[in-house]
Amino acid sequence: MKRTRHFASDNYSGVCPEAWAAMAEANAGHEVSYGDDHWTQRATDLIREIFETDCEVFFVFNGTAANSLSLASLCQPYHSILCHELGHIETAECGAPEFFSNGSKILLLPGANGKIAPAAVEHAVRRRSDIHYPKPGALSLTQVTEVGTAYSVAEVKALAETAKKLGLRVQMDGARFANAVASLGVSPADITWRAGVDVLCFGGSKNGIALGEAVVFFNRELAHEFDYRCKQGGQLASKMRFLSAPWLGMLKDGAWLRHAGHSNAMARRLEAGLRDIPGVSISYPVQSNAVFAKIPPTAEEKLRDRGWHFYTGVITPEEARLMCSWDTTPEDVDAFVADLLRILG
Ligand SMILES: Cc1ncc(COP(=O)(O)O)c(C=O)c1O
Repeated sequence: MKRTRHFASDNYSGVCPEAWAAMAEANAGHEVSYGDDHWTQRATDLIREIFETDCEVFFVFNGTAANSLSLASLCQPYHSILCHELGHIETAECGAPEFFSNGSKILLLPGANGKIAPAAVEHAVRRRSDIHYPKPGALSLTQVTEVGTAYSVAEVKALAETAKKLGLRVQMDGARFANAVASLGVSPADITWRAGVDVLCFGGSKNGIALGEAVVFFNRELAHEFDYRCKQGGQLASKMRFLSAPWLGMLKDGAWLRHAGHSNAMARRLEAGLRDIPGVSISYPVQSNAVFAKIPPTAEEKLRDRGWHFYTGVITPEEARLMCSWDTTPEDVDAFVADLLRILG
C-alpha cells in the first residue's frame, strides 16, 4: 500500500506552509547575496527577540555543520568534547566535529533516558588531569535527546553549572529544540543562555523548514570569526535569503511552536495507542515527537508490508523509532495503531 506520510523521520516531511510562503515572498526580484540581505537581518533580529538577548546568529545548511563548526569554535584541537554515548555528534556525523575542530576528541558519557547527569561530567573531567588526556573543553547536550526525552531547565542549569565550574563551554545540539520548548512550556531564554548554554544549534529542518539550522551564540566572544569558519566549511550560502527567510515565516507568529506542539501531540497519541497493545512496550518517556517501541519483529515486517516506513535499530536492535512531524495527522497515527492491532490479533 502506498502511503503519503510515514513515521521514519521528521526529515521525511515536506516544507510547512509558513516556511514555504516566506520562501516564495523572498523569491520576488533581486536581493543582495551572502547574507547581507534584509531577510537575513530580519530573521536574525527575530531570533534575538525570541531569545531576549543580543546573540550572534548564523544560518547554515544542516545540523552536522552547525554542530561541527560551533564545537570547533569552542575547542582547541587538543581539547575533548563531552557528550552522551548516543549523541548525534558521535554516532551520526561521520567524524565531522573532530574534522572541523582539527582533532578535538569526543569523550562519551553514559546516562539513562539519553541524558547526561552532572556527576558523569564531573567524573569524565576529574578522572585524569595529566598531559596525556585530551583536555575537556566543551560539553555538548542534545535537546531533545536522541531518545526523545527533554532536559528540564533545572537539569540544563545543573549541567551547565558543573561544566562552567570545570572550565567547559556548553553547546546545545537543538536539532529538535522547538519540540523541547513546546513540550516543556518554557521560555527559549530560560532553557538556553539563562541556564548557562553558550551556543545553540537551533534546528529548522525537523520543524518544517526545507533545510537549514541557525547557530545562535549567546556568548558573543565565541562567535569571533565564525563567518570565516562557515565560509571555509562550505556553509556560506550565496542566496542566503532562502536559508533565512523561512525562519521569519516560522518565528513571526509562532508557527515553530505550533508545529512542534502538534508533532509532540501526535507522538503522545501514538504512545497511548501502542501502550495498550499486548506484546508492545514503550522504551522511554515520550516528551517530544519520538516514540521508541519494542514491537515483535514479525509484526514490524508486516507493518512494512502494509506500506509503513520506520527505522528499527537506531538505539537498540529491538526498538522501532517512530517519529511524528508537523504534518502527521491523527488519522495517520490511528491507522498505524489499527494495523498493528490487526497484525497482533
Ligand atoms: C540530534 C540530531 N542532531 C543533529 C541532526 C542534524 O543532522 P543533519 O546534518 O542531517 O541535518 C540530527 C538529524 O537527524 C539529529 O537527530
